[in-house]
Amino acid sequence: MSNVCIITGGAGSMGLGAAEAIGKELGMKIVLGDISEEAIDKGVAKLAEAGVEADGFVADARNQEEAAQLVAYAAKTGTLKGLINLAGISPKGGPDYHVSYKLVFDIAVCGTVFCSQEAAKAMTEGGCIINISSTSPFLVPAGTMQEDLYPLAAEDFSGFLDKMHAALAASGDEQTARNYAYMWGRRFIIWYTEWLACQVGKQNIRVVSIGPGVVDGPMVEESGLNLARMSAIGRTGRPEELAAVYAFMLSDKASYISGTNLMVDGGIVAAIHNIKR
Ligand SMILES: NC(=O)c1ccc[n+]([C@@H]2O[C@H](COP(=O)([O-])OP(=O)(O)OC[C@H]3O[C@@H](n4cnc5c(N)ncnc54)[C@H](O)[C@@H]3O)[C@@H](O)[C@H]2O)c1
Repeated sequence: MSNVCIITGGAGSMGLGAAEAIGKELGMKIVLGDISEEAIDKGVAKLAEAGVEADGFVADARNQEEAAQLVAYAAKTGTLKGLINLAGISPKGGPDYHVSYKLVFDIAVCGTVFCSQEAAKAMTEGGCIINISSTSPFLVPAGTMQEDLYPLAAEDFSGFLDKMHAALAASGDEQTARNYAYMWGRRFIIWYTEWLACQVGKQNIRVVSIGPGVVDGPMVEESGLNLARMSAIGRTGRPEELAAVYAFMLSDKASYISGTNLMVDGGIVAAIHNIKR
């Protein structure tokens, strides 16, 4: 049986880049989990052309039942060894593109928590879970992102969600709440990565988060390009530059790395810290 890696949001730009690198470098079979069937079909075909064995499963990562179905499907096709929680959307609304703060927060946070919980149960031979943070939590002072509420997520996840939604609703106008939803969600993911790593480490499951900088793809906007320009290396990242890091983290070469957040951002956070000095 092949080793299998699930990539949620896998039909997106970073997801497909990751799938190709992991398939080619590690010989893993890929299951693209995404809400867009059309994008999955195109992605699977593109990966086949690149010689990567891939399959797809339509699932909304923020729905617990669908997350469980996605993991059960992947685990039937081989030995589940990897999960990358890439499902996410931009907090920017627009005339044809309306998103709510709950949607922004829940896709990132519920998607990560539900898919990780299910995958950890199915990784009977160990494995690696990669979560996605961002530069956004580093743009504001620590202690301003409802961090006090995070431990509640471990005991009463729906109570935690209610409290975070209420705090977001009270944070300002709709666009402000969406921006905070993105930032607070990604900060929570860094906390959750540390917490989960300690729960599953003895089962030989490693958990890490990766913080992409501004990576070429549909989510990039002018504000992101400005961040990229002021970064240490002064440019955006390419999906393949992130893909190489995901493949490394999933490999045995990273066997001593767990419970940590690695920024792969061309030095955006470094530049922010430098300005503050
Ligand atoms: N691109 C960047 O600069 C950047 C930077 C930091 C973090 N991120 C995060 O990395 C992830 C991937 O980014 P990308 O550039 O590949 O974005 P993308 O828009 O190309 O891909 C995101 C994919 O997620 C899917 N998706 C959306 N909602 C979903 C849901 N509920 N369940 C399952 N799939 C869902 C979409 O259909 C899409 O295929 C996102 O979570 C994003 O927030 C991106």
